[in-house]
Parts: sequence; structure tokens; C-alpha cells
Amino acid sequence: MGEYIVELTHISKEFPGVKALDDVCFYLKPGEVHALLGENGAGKSTLMKILCGIYERDSGDFMVDGALIHTLSPKIAQELGIAIIHQELNMCSHLTVAENIFLAREELSFGFIKQKSINEKAREVLNKLKLDIDPMTIVGKLPVSKQQMVEIAKALSTNARILIMDEPTSALTDHEIKELFRIIRKLRAEGKAIVYISHRLEELKEITDRLTILRDGKFVTTMNYANTSVTEIISYMVGREIKEKYPRVDKVKGKRLLEVKNLNAGMVRDVNFELYEGEIIGFAGLMGAGRTELVRALFGADYIDSGEILLEGKKLEIKSPMDAIREGIVCAPEDRKKEGLCTELTIRENIGLANLDRICNKIGIVNGKKEEELTKRAVKDLKIKTPSLSQEVKNLSGGNQQKVVVGKWLVRKARIVIFDEPTRGIDVAAKVEIYNLMNKLKEEGIGVIFVSSELPEILGMSDKIIVMCDGRITGSLKVEDATQDKILGLATKYQTKKEAAEHGRK
Ligand SMILES: Nc1ncnc2c1ncn2[C@@H]1O[C@H](COP(=O)(O)OP(=O)(O)OP(=O)(O)O)[C@@H](O)[C@H]1O
Ligand SMILES: [Mg+2]
Repeated sequence: MGEYIVELTHISKEFPGVKALDDVCFYLKPGEVHALLGENGAGKSTLMKILCGIYERDSGDFMVDGALIHTLSPKIAQELGIAIIHQELNMCSHLTVAENIFLAREELSFGFIKQKSINEKAREVLNKLKLDIDPMTIVGKLPVSKQQMVEIAKALSTNARILIMDEPTSALTDHEIKELFRIIRKLRAEGKAIVYISHRLEELKEITDRLTILRDGKFVTTMNYANTSVTEIISYMVGREIKEKYPRVDKVKGKRLLEVKNLNAGMVRDVNFELYEGEIIGFAGLMGAGRTELVRALFGADYIDSGEILLEGKKLEIKSPMDAIREGIVCAPEDRKKEGLCTELTIRENIGLANLDRICNKIGIVNGKKEEELTKRAVKDLKIKTPSLSQEVKNLSGGNQQKVVVGKWLVRKARIVIFDEPTRGIDVAAKVEIYNLMNKLKEEGIGVIFVSSELPEILGMSDKIIVMCDGRITGSLKVEDATQDKILGLATKYQTKKEAAEHGRK
């Protein structure tokens, strides 16, 4: 066997109006973790979909173990030992964990699925990964992070020797990321080849052996991780240097916009805080701290048990997102595929739908010109990479889909904008664009609520930081006084107690 397990040479792929890959070469060695990097829309997912037979290449050669592969389908790729963990979760949410893991490979006995045997096999796979997930759980009931781990278990259950991970950590907790890296190291030691796609450049140092960078569908470079730095990687990715990672604007906060008093909603307990005009409040905490639940309640997406929400002193009755939007409270949610977008519709339709009240005339007829104007503005402001306004959202790259979620709300006049993990899956340069937009809202006197699991961006962008743990606010810090350690301390305030209590129960 030669040095490489996979050799992709001079690969090109065109979609209508988009040259997604232009003469790209990619070489993968057994026993290495190879990071594939580039901005949103650079062609990473497309290249990997070609490697596992989902897309057909227009031209270029493809070798596995030194042998040319002419035609490839997902089935042939699987036989060659190639498995992919997709960027977007691909679980059937109404099926169990075990059914998902063995989907399409289910063992049939007289036409029925052998439930018992797949449950046992799934348990084996999960145990091997030291994952504490019951194979009989319905996947839709698991948090996103656990679903992601199931997806990984599914890929590994095929005994793949070439494993592609397309942004596996974007929805994982720190602890789960550590677990994932442990698994990756173990697979590498077993001689498996791993392609690792991520926008979290800081984490690469943990596992990366080599990396390849794409820009605008073109190959830029392949190098050893040891010989480079994050700054160099970024400059290769975006073709220029990014000076300010967290652009900050100073603005004197205006009058009080929002008051939340003794709010209880689901796991959210007794939350009190105030938001002022032109203020950005960052909500920090570990995953599962109740931040998403809190903002969902504010936005009317979840039921409020008790408490008051006042906007400019007026008590609000928010029973649905429509009520919230009417009051000028808008939200870009965490789970874009489920809640943020209609992926089958075009960019223009998605933006139009969110702004029907602004683009319809009195009898409800959509003014196409206005819709187009709004969409153009969002595409321009956020630099959404698309050949046209009528591109279906599902054909956009992951990060560009996220920009559409944000874009829907940015074009309307809101008083409070809630962002729940807005930069997840977004490349370094686009992150700065989103930060700039947050600043623009701030300058217009809008109040911004910003939930993020990435402490550097919380520290870099917020005026005030509120930390949550176990459904409660455990502290509020002015940004001048905040440090990562202080935030982490508050974010884990009940953790030790909770763990102790849980331990006692066992
Ligand atoms: N099925 C498709 N139809 C049309 N265009 C597509 C399709 N899939 C991808 N594209 C386009 O090809 C380009 C490359 O997309 P790709 O998804 O490979 O980017 P990416 O590097 O994975 O980006 P991200 O980091 O945002 O996930 C983008 O411009 C995208 O809009
Ligand atoms: Mg992608």
C-alpha cells in the first residue's frame, strides 16, 4: 500500500451558477487526522460528499488504496469503508437511537426488525464509545448534543476506516468535545483516517496532524499542523488578515427597554433582569443551563408559568412568537433547520415570510419588489454567498444558511433582537460580519440579547454578561469586571451540588 489511503486529484464540481470545486487535490493518509478548512461556501462539504458518493464529480481522479475508482455511490463508498457524519443532523427523530444507528442495515426476521438484536448491538457501539445513552430512547427527545454523539456512533458502527466529520463539535458541550477527541485519538491509533471539518480553529491543536485549506472552491495549501499557526491559517482561508476579531463600539445606553421580573418558565426559575436601549447583554453558561429556554419564553415560543415582562414599562402578554414579533421582539433561534428556516424555500421566500407584515398591502398581496429589496439588503449586509436571491436555502452552505436566519430579522425594525448561538458553524470572517451587525443594532438603539457558549465572543461583544446555571441566574457582570474564570465559576455554581445530589441518588 502506498502512502495514501485516499487520493483526490483535480476534482471539479459545478452547481447551477456556482463553481463549488475547481481543480482541487486532497490526499489522506491512514492514521492521520486531517483538518479540512475554509470559509463558508469554500467547498468543504461538497468535496466530502463527492468522497462518499453523494455527489458525482464533474472531473478529476479518485483513488482508494492506490486503485482508481470510476463510479461511486453511497453504497460503494460504504463498502470501501468510508463513512460521513454530516454537518446537519440527519437523524429520524421519531425513531429510537438503535433504529437510527442501524437504519438501512436493519436486520429483518420475517420482515420485522429484530428489535432486541439491534438494541443489543447499539448498546455495544455506545458502550465502546463510553456514551451514556439508552438505545431505546426516541432520538427527537435527546438534546442536539446527544443526537450528534448518536450520529458519530452510527458512522462508527459500520467499521469505517475513513471517517469524515463535518463540523462535529458545533453543538457539543466542552465535556462532550473532550470525549469526542478521546474517541478520535483512539481511532487514529487504530490506523483510521479522519477528515475533520471545523470552524473552531482553536480546537485543532488538540488533534490535527495535517490540514488542507480551500478558498472559493480552489485548493490553497496542505501542510503539517506543527508548522503553522492559527493566524496563518486564517490568512490562508480568507486571503487577508483579520485585524479585529471582536469589533466593539462604545455607546451610552439609552432608556430602559425591557424588564423581566420573577420569570418562571419550564426549567427557568425566578429570572430577573433589565435590558437598555443600545445595550448588548451576553448570556453565558454551560449547555443546558436554561438560556435557550429563557429566550424561547421571551419570544413566546414556550409557555410562561409566572412572572412579568415589561417593554418600556408596558406589561406584555406574549403567548406566541407572533405576539412577540408584533411588539418588536425577534429571535434567531439555535436550531436553524428545525425552527429558523424553511429549507425547501428560497432565500427570498424565507426573508419574505418573516416580514410579511412589511411587504404585503392591505388586502394581503405580497409586493414582490419590496420583498426583493429586503432580500437584496440582507444578502449584501451579511455577504450571503449565493448565485441568486431565488436559490433554495437547502443548497446554501451551512454557514450561509445561518446568515439567512440572522438576515430575516435584521432587515426589519425591531426593538429587541435575540440571537441564540448566532455564530455556530460560521467562519472567522463571517463572525466579524455578524458582530458588526450586532453593533449596528446597538448604534440604532436596539437592545440585543446574545446567547453564546463561546466565552471569548461573549467577553468580546457584550456590555453586560449574565451567567446562568441550572435554570437560574447565578451572576451578572459588567464586561470590565468579567473574566473567563469568573464566568465559569458562576456557570458551574450548582454543578458540584447537583452532581453530589445525583451521586447520592445512585
Ligand atoms: N446541492 C447544491 N446545489 C447548488 N449549490 C450548492 C449545492 N451544494 C453546495 N452548493 C454551493 O456550493 C458552494 C460550496 O458549498 P459547501 O457546502 O461545500 O461549502 P462549505 O465549505 O461546506 O461551507 P460551510 O462552512 O458553510 O459549511 C456554495 O456556494 C454552495 O452554495
Ligand atoms: Mg459545509
